[in-house]
Amino acid sequence: MPIIIENLSHVYMPGTPFESKAIDNINLTIEDGEVFGLIGHTGSGKSTLIQHFNGLLRPTTGRVVVNGIDITNKNVDLKKLRSKVGLIFQYPEHQLFEETVVKDVAFGPKNLGLSQEEIQKRVKEALALVGLDYDVLKDRSPFELSGGQMRRIAIAGVLAMKPEVLILDEPTAGLDPRGRDEILEQIKNLHMKHKITVILVSHNMEDIARMAGRVGVMYRGKLIKTGTPRQVFSDYDTLKKAGLGIPQVTKLMKMLKEQGKAVRTDVLTVKEAENEILSMLRGKKHA
Ligand SMILES: Nc1ncnc2c1ncn2[C@@H]1O[C@H](COP(=O)(O)OP(=O)(O)OP(=O)(O)O)[C@@H](O)[C@H]1O
Ligand SMILES: [Mg+2]
Repeated sequence: MPIIIENLSHVYMPGTPFESKAIDNINLTIEDGEVFGLIGHTGSGKSTLIQHFNGLLRPTTGRVVVNGIDITNKNVDLKKLRSKVGLIFQYPEHQLFEETVVKDVAFGPKNLGLSQEEIQKRVKEALALVGLDYDVLKDRSPFELSGGQMRRIAIAGVLAMKPEVLILDEPTAGLDPRGRDEILEQIKNLHMKHKITVILVSHNMEDIARMAGRVGVMYRGKLIKTGTPRQVFSDYDTLKKAGLGIPQVTKLMKMLKEQGKAVRTDVLTVKEAENEILSMLRGKKHA
C-alpha cells in the first residue's frame, strides 16, 4: 500500500496566538516495500508528518492517499487503516498499561474483533518477531522487564495487527548499543522476510545509513531533500543547513580526503571504510 502525500501542510492551533505551521507543503511518495529514513533537527516536523500517514492527524491543506484511497475523506475506516499502517511512537513503552505481556500485545488484535484463537496465534508470532519468548514472558507484568524488552513488547503490540507499513519514531532512542542493534536487526528482518514497508524516523545518522534505502531531510516543516543515503550524506550543504551531522565513518573519510588521501567520501559503513583505507594503503605501496 503506497502512501502518497500531496501538497501537505499542517498548522497547529490555527487562529490562536499559538498558531504554528509544522508542515509546509510537502510532496512525497513512499513506495511498497521500501525502507524510508526521515531525518531532521528537533522541531522540524518529522513526528507531525508521520502522524498523517495513518490518519492520526488531519492535514490543514493537502491530501494523503494510502493504497489509492484519500484518507482525508470523512467516511474512511480509520481503525482498519491504522491496523494496516502501524505507528510506533517515541518511547512506546510509556503506553504499555495491561497487567501481563500477553494482554498488552493482544490489545490491538482484540480491538479488531478477531477470534480468541487468532489473537493467541498473533500474540505468539508477534513476540517471536521481536525476539521474545512467549512461554517465559506471557504472564509477566511488562513493568518488571528491562527497558529494551518493554520497547519490544510495545512493538509486538503493533506487529500483532499485521501491518503492511510500519512507522517507527525514534525506535532506538535511549537504548544502550546492544538494545539498539537488536531492535534494528529485528526491523531489518521484518522488512526482508515479510516485505513490510518501513518508515524510520531517527536522529541517529548511523542508524539511517545502515537501514534506509532512501532518506528524506526535513527542515522547518519542509522536505528539503530526498535521495539514497549516499546522495544525502554526501550533500554537506543541505545537511549543514538542516543542522544535521553525517555518520562517523563518512566524517572520517572526509577528513582523510581533506588531508590529501585518495579515498571516496560517500562511504556509509565501517566495512566500506575499511575497504577504502586498505585500497588506499595498497595503492601507496604499489606507487
Ligand atoms: N501538539 C502540538 N501542538 C502545538 N504545536 C506542536 C504540537 N506538536 C508539535 N508542535 C510543534 O510543531 C513543530 C514540529 O514538531 P514535531 O514534533 O513534528 O517535530 P520533530 O521533528 O518530530 O521533533 P523531534 O525531533 O524533537 O521529535 C514544532 O515547532 C513543535 O513545537
Ligand atoms: Mg518527533
